[in-house]
Amino acid sequence: MAVLPIVEVPDPRLRLISKPVEQVTDQTRAFVQDMIDTMYAANGIGLAAIQVGVDRRILVIDLQDEKDEDDKPIKAPHAYINPEILSVSEDLSSYNEGCLSIPEQYADVARPASCRVRWLDEHGEGHEEELTGLLSTCMQHEIDHLNGVLFIDHISRLKRDMVMKKLAKLRR
Ligand code: NI
Repeated sequence: MAVLPIVEVPDPRLRLISKPVEQVTDQTRAFVQDMIDTMYAANGIGLAAIQVGVDRRILVIDLQDEKDEDDKPIKAPHAYINPEILSVSEDLSSYNEGCLSIPEQYADVARPASCRVRWLDEHGEGHEEELTGLLSTCMQHEIDHLNGVLFIDHISRLKRDMVMKKLAKLRR
């Protein structure tokens, strides 16, 4: 178990295009576990490798939307290696997004409501699924990270400036 430091804006690494994973190995799996530990420690629902400074096409997501009898979220982390969006729906849905690399800032972002995605899991097995709801939104947000894109790139300049101002204030 290792909780890794999270890269925050305006770190230029967040603008890198991450490279594909050529082979899923024990080393990949150990890194995926560290990413999952880091995501939980930061109370996030998704994390891209570049957010811990590694420019590889790896994501972890756990929406933590299922609760046990004591109302504690049931942990069900998933790893997505070399994820690719194959198609997106025409209809959009808007969600109040946040990002561990832009701490405590949120903005409504409109994205395709559903998307078809292909990826490898942590055992190197291929999957393809149509994603909807929050998982669709989260997946598109995380794949954006692999392409150097942040959620604030999807909002107006005015709103982006507001987010960055609030963040500067928070850091003071
Ligand atoms: Ni993010």
